[in-house]
Amino acid sequence: MKKILAEMNRLPETEDRYTELMNVETAAVAEQYHRSFPQYNVTPLADLKRMAEYLGLECVKVKDESYRFGLNAFKVLGGSFAVANFAAGKAGMDIRDMTFERLRSEEMKAKLGGLTLLSATDGNHGRGVAWTANQLGYRCIIKMPAGTTDARLENIRREQAEVTIENANYDDCVRMVAALAETIGNSVVVQDTAWAGYEEIPAWIMQGYATMAKEAAEQFGAVPTHIFVQAGVGSMAGAVAGYFARRYPEDPPKVIVVEPVRAACHYESALRGDGSTAAVGGTLETISAGLACGEVNPISWDILRNHAAAFLALEDDVTVRGMRMLSAPLKGDPQVVSGESGAAGFGALAAIMLDEENRELREALQLGPDSRVLCFSTEGDTDPERYRNIIWNGLEK
Ligand SMILES: Cc1ncc(COP(=O)(O)O)c(C=O)c1O
Repeated sequence: MKKILAEMNRLPETEDRYTELMNVETAAVAEQYHRSFPQYNVTPLADLKRMAEYLGLECVKVKDESYRFGLNAFKVLGGSFAVANFAAGKAGMDIRDMTFERLRSEEMKAKLGGLTLLSATDGNHGRGVAWTANQLGYRCIIKMPAGTTDARLENIRREQAEVTIENANYDDCVRMVAALAETIGNSVVVQDTAWAGYEEIPAWIMQGYATMAKEAAEQFGAVPTHIFVQAGVGSMAGAVAGYFARRYPEDPPKVIVVEPVRAACHYESALRGDGSTAAVGGTLETISAGLACGEVNPISWDILRNHAAAFLALEDDVTVRGMRMLSAPLKGDPQVVSGESGAAGFGALAAIMLDEENRELREALQLGPDSRVLCFSTEGDTDPERYRNIIWNGLEK
């Protein structure tokens, strides 16, 4: 059995109405808002020069989101920007005038009343929402799927959220939260995926992720030829693909979407061939908790079917090798602490370049000595004990 299954994107294009969400002007607004946070700094782009040589690439650079706001993952960019947009709307303000200070002001609280934020999460998104609620002094209710580790639950509880682990998978937790919100007055569901009638907030969340894409594009220098992005519901992958398509319309990078093989809703949807989506059910077993989603976000799916080059489904040990390679770099290269969801993109790249069984895929993606590759390490060691068990103790799960 191959460790990577691949489907080149041959899907019929749509009218592509969502890519415009990720235009460069909106990205600048998101970045300006995030810059108003006291915790803001541009996360590093690790230039792995020796690794590029070893893999046979012109360059490989990894955006290291373990440095994001002290939260060890990129996700807070989305939830915080969605809350800002929601608040601006309620207060009759332009989002361009919104700052962190303004959002926490007494005047804003008076306008918004006793707001409750709700979300379902496999870890990082909910932590970002809980952090935002805590910073702003709002109530927060978070539901997590079965199999979530205690460390991830505690990260959210520390932000004062009312958090529970449910006997359900991620997609069912999303439905539980949406139903619960109906019973709570003055509440808002801050969910990182869309469904019929619920598009505004997930679109803002994706726009919030543009801060990461914009920083990376500016740090990268030349235009990347390839971008590897891992997907859960696909909001992040869609945001990155959309942003680069808008920023470089003449020569957009090839975007390669990677997922764990047992939660590969994008890959399975791509296999259908007509643009319709496939839902993956069950326990969505994978080491990559943040990628354990069985249903695509229809907004980002529409962007990806127009702008992604390929959809890959990985065995977990591809990701584990990526984690280890980033953790123990070639001498002279910087280290990137990359967690079980963060290292999937780089792991896929390494396997494609190093393993003979992937030669055809390497050729199909036109990866070689002229390739300039951007990867996103979207989380650090968000569950430190598990991370150390994998890196130090050789555990595979
Ligand atoms: C670390 C990490 N990377 C990537 C993703 C995937 O993002 P999305 O669900 O938008 O596809 C997640 C989602 O939780 C995540 O936590």
